Amino acid sequence: MKTNKEIYSEFLTKNEQALLGGGQDKIDKQHADGKMTARERIDTLLDKGSFVEVDKFVVHNCQNFGMDKTHIAGDGIVGGYGKIDGRLVYVYAYDFTVFGGSLSRTNANKIVKLQKMAIKMGAPIIAINDSGGARIQEGVSSLAGYGDIFYQNTISSGVIPQLSVIMGPCAGGACYSPALTDFIFMVKEKSHLFVTGPDVVKTVTHEDVSKEELGGAAVHSSKSGVAHFVGNDEEDTLMMLRELLSFLPSNNMEDSPATPSFDPITREDERLNTLIPEDPNKPYDIKELIESVVDDGHLFEVMPNFAQNVVIAFARLGGKSVGIVANQPAFLAGVLDIDASDKAARFIRFCDCFNIPLITFEDVPGFLPGCTQEHHGIIRHGAKVVYAYVEATVPKITVITRKAYGGAYIVMSSKHTGADINFAYPNAEIAVMGASGAVNVLYRKADDEAKAKALVEYEDKFSNPYRAAELGYIDEIILPAQTRTKLIQALDMAQTKIRSNPAKKHGNIPL
Ligand code: HXC
Repeated sequence: MKTNKEIYSEFLTKNEQALLGGGQDKIDKQHADGKMTARERIDTLLDKGSFVEVDKFVVHNCQNFGMDKTHIAGDGIVGGYGKIDGRLVYVYAYDFTVFGGSLSRTNANKIVKLQKMAIKMGAPIIAINDSGGARIQEGVSSLAGYGDIFYQNTISSGVIPQLSVIMGPCAGGACYSPALTDFIFMVKEKSHLFVTGPDVVKTVTHEDVSKEELGGAAVHSSKSGVAHFVGNDEEDTLMMLRELLSFLPSNNMEDSPATPSFDPITREDERLNTLIPEDPNKPYDIKELIESVVDDGHLFEVMPNFAQNVVIAFARLGGKSVGIVANQPAFLAGVLDIDASDKAARFIRFCDCFNIPLITFEDVPGFLPGCTQEHHGIIRHGAKVVYAYVEATVPKITVITRKAYGGAYIVMSSKHTGADINFAYPNAEIAVMGASGAVNVLYRKADDEAKAKALVEYEDKFSNPYRAAELGYIDEIILPAQTRTKLIQALDMAQTKIRSNPAKKHGNIPL
């Protein structure tokens, strides 16, 4: 009679390729292409030795095209659970060495099982993509598998963080699982996302483009806004993902883990009192200001190369995770345009889903005027920012660092759209528009002397935060050097905020 150990070891010997995926030659090719295998990626990502594999011996059940003779234990997905910084996560990686990481019905079943476990246990799920898409030999069964994955992606949205890493090809409808998740990571020059590849593009539109030009990391992180983070290589990318998770709770019922810092909460930075130029038309780098305010000067920026007129980032204040949204005067004067609106709105909603307080730094001359913006729907896109801020029930604190003009003043987390505490620096300008623009409208026909007089009057009346403070729209006028202390005090005060909106099925955000 064989012992359990003997039976299992015989089984393992028979199925040793379960650890080798598609075989050593395919692993060698993967390495030669500068890519890790699915298991190596998971081992690099997770805390050492914490990975527990699920469904290691599942095989496909396809009978077509001689597939019945090509069973590989585990099929094309390596998945299971493990820990990141000691916290539970679920992870699955497409194994490119097995039929090009293509999605079979059984691969989809493995993924859906993990998605359901992740939601049941309230833990983040990470998908590492490197796949030729739907397994051609399986036809509609494979397509159905994608549908099941998308379904779980959507149901899980706002309940657990879902993160996607693209480490090879990800084409066709397969792009939509990453697109439904919260954040997409790509690897510089090694990963590609597109709905149709270069060959189809050439046939349909006669454009000649390379994979990189069509859907490489550079394009998606700077032009399309599809990717949120780009790593220099696979390891760098996975380390970024680990850091991102450190700012997030495991699910929507929890707060982010506190990370104690030795940075004193009352620290003042006198440099801030002179950082913002007196001339309102001169730029300055808002990131310099934010870095000086947050714990240890550390800002974890999201989408740093897309719509740079808005900065979105995670950081900590007094050890607590916060989401930062800021106009960037050093890029397009910090104006709100379509891309910046989309970027800010989605981030605000993410933070709200996961109980991360929002800190807004505002220096905005308004919405970008012009036919291009109007014709592409700046009204529809800009409305997303208002909607996202109003709907967000997390603590919301705003600092007006300089300009707060027109609709953009209202939109950028003003008192009127539900901010809890609104600060302004003494040099802030809260008005319908800038002084010269206003005088040109009101005194179009006046002579230069009258215009100059009106300009002085307008600046005196509106180019300051005091009228707003008189009306209670600004809670406190603070010196820039005090920003850190004031923000931490306000955050502390807002900890017990009652967070609820009227019950509804769901709202109808302008999309
Ligand atoms: C089955 C596939 C496959 C697929 C690749 N392979 N894609 N097997 N179904 N979809 C196999 C190849 O036959 C090959 O097997 C191995 O994987 C590696 O592929 P190579 O072509 O040798 O690798 P490479 O040169 O690196 O090219 C990778 C690739 C290319 C760019 C991904 O394989 C490719 O274009 N594949 C097809 C992509 C595609 O059109 N997929 C369908 C998308 S539509 P051997 O045995 O030779 O090693 C879709 C619909 C989803 O996904 C809809 C959801 C709603």
